[in-house]
Amino acid sequence: IAGGIMKLKIAVLSSGRGSNFSALLKNSRKEDSFFQIALLISDKENAGALKTAKEEGIPHFFVNPKDFENKEAFENKMVEIVNRYDCGLVCLAGYMRILSPSFLKAWKKDVINIHPSLLPAFPGLDAQKQALEYGVKFSGCTVHFVDEGMDTGLIIGQKVVPVLETDDEETLSKRILKEEHILYTEVVNKYAQGKIKNKR
Ligand code: GRF
Repeated sequence: IAGGIMKLKIAVLSSGRGSNFSALLKNSRKEDSFFQIALLISDKENAGALKTAKEEGIPHFFVNPKDFENKEAFENKMVEIVNRYDCGLVCLAGYMRILSPSFLKAWKKDVINIHPSLLPAFPGLDAQKQALEYGVKFSGCTVHFVDEGMDTGLIIGQKVVPVLETDDEETLSKRILKEEHILYTEVVNKYAQGKIKNKR
């Protein structure tokens, strides 16, 4: 309970390493947090995020897309799991699939995503590599509402980092990731306080 208010329960979807998940989890446990992580879902059995969730005692689910006839059935399963936990928000954190309209239809509340560029520049895969190839002097990260497009949807928050002459994909990604971990928590805390509204 933060300030006597119930904490917003969130569901996190992650396909991989899970450093954003870890950061959200750590920050959710701070006294002044307005949210808590109810569960973690992954579409990859070996995802680091699943391992972290297990170690940290967070309910976690591996939902294998191969077990379902089509994307809609797969996504309906995830929505069904999220609904069991009384969540108010779904957060994508390195979830490497595009959500179909059926997910957004079945889950009627908001979904947000974090992306390692200053959207609308460099959507899609390898955003940091795209930024380096384009020669931008600043990049960063974005948290946005998810709609049917890829990395589209109303932008909620951004953080900027410089791109250095000496950068390669690894050094730039690292600099951006550090800001991602701060930004995602800031945005979720604001959302949990009702300070951010989707326009869809
Ligand atoms: C992050 O760079 C995020 O912005 C992007 O995928 C990466 C996930 O990293 N969508 P992690 O799994 O949170 O460590």
